[in-house]
Amino acid sequence: MIAGWLALSVLSSTAQIPDSFTNLKVLPRDITRDSLVQIMRGFSLSLSVRCQYCHVGGDGVSFAGVEFAKDDDPHKRKARFMLRMVDSLNRVVLPNIPDLGGRAPLRITCKTCHRNSARPELLTQRLERVRDSLGIEAAVTEYRQLRTDNQFSGRYDFGEWEMNLWAERLARTGRSADAIQVYELNLESFPRSRSILSALGQLHEPTDRAQALEYYRRALELQPGNPVLQRRVERLENP
Ligand code: HEC
Ligand code: HEC
Repeated sequence: MIAGWLALSVLSSTAQIPDSFTNLKVLPRDITRDSLVQIMRGFSLSLSVRCQYCHVGGDGVSFAGVEFAKDDDPHKRKARFMLRMVDSLNRVVLPNIPDLGGRAPLRITCKTCHRNSARPELLTQRLERVRDSLGIEAAVTEYRQLRTDNQFSGRYDFGEWEMNLWAERLARTGRSADAIQVYELNLESFPRSRSILSALGQLHEPTDRAQALEYYRRALELQPGNPVLQRRVERLENP
C-alpha cells in the first residue's frame, strides 16, 4: 500500500530532502522543511502516488538522486497548476459564497476532487470512455473489475443512481441496447429496485413484449397496486 510505504520511507529518508528549496513558485520560499514535506505527503496520499510520480531522477524507489527542484515531469507542472487553482478557489472564489453568515467556507483540498486517484474521473465517466473506445461489453467487464477490486473502494460511487443516470442518458440518446445492458448489470447489485425493473420493462417493450411483461410484473410485486405498473401489465397481457 502506498500509505504504508510513505509513512516508512519519508521518515527514513528525509535526509535526502534538502533543507532549502530553489524552485518554489507557489509555496512560500522560506517554508520549513517539515511543512513542505507534510504538504508533499498530502499530495502523494490524495492522489495515491509516490513522490517520483512528480519528481524526476533516481531509481524510482529511494530518494537518492531524485531532483526535487526540476520541473521536467509533466505531472509536477500539472500539480503546480492545481496548487494555484486550489489556492485561488479557497482565497478568491469561495469567500463569496452567498449567505455564509460570517463563517469561513469549507476548504477545498486536493482530496476533495482526487479521492485517492491521480485522475479524478467519475465511475460513469470512466465507463463511458471505455464504451466509446471498446464497446459496452468492455465497459461491463471494467465495472465488474472495479467493483470487486478493494483498491477502488471509496474511489467510485457504486450506488444505484450513478449507473441508473448513465443508463437514462444512453436511452435518451438512442442507445437502448446499451442502456438495457447497463440496467441489467445494475440490477445484479440492486435486484429489488423498482426504478430499474420498470425502466427495463419500458426499454424492452418495443422489441420483446414477453420480457417487458416479466420486468413489469416483478416491479409490481414490489409495489402492489401501483396504478401505472398495473396498467402496463394489463396492456401487455391483453394486446
Ligand atoms: C502530485 C505531484 C507531487 C507529488 C506527488 C510530490 N510533489 Fe513535491 N513538489 C510538487 C510541486 C508542484 C512542487 C513545487 C511547488 C511550488 O512551485 O511552490 C514540489 C516541490 C517539492 C520540493 C521543493 C523542491 C525545490 O527545491 O524547489 C521538494 C523537496 C519536494 N517537492 C519533495 C517531495 C516529496 C518528498 C514528495 C513525496 C512525499 C513529493 N514532493 C511529492 C509536486 C509533487
Ligand atoms: C476542483 C477539483 C480538483 C482539485 C481540488 C484538484 N484537482 Fe488535480 N485534477 C483535477 C482534474 C479534473 C484533473 C484531470 C485533468 C485532465 O487531465 O483532464 C486533475 C489532474 C491532476 C493531475 C494530473 C494527473 C494525470 O495523471 O494526468 C495532477 C498531478 C493533479 N491533478 C494534482 C493535484 C494536486 C496536487 C491538487 C491539490 C493541490 C489537485 N490536483 C487538486 C481536478 C482537481
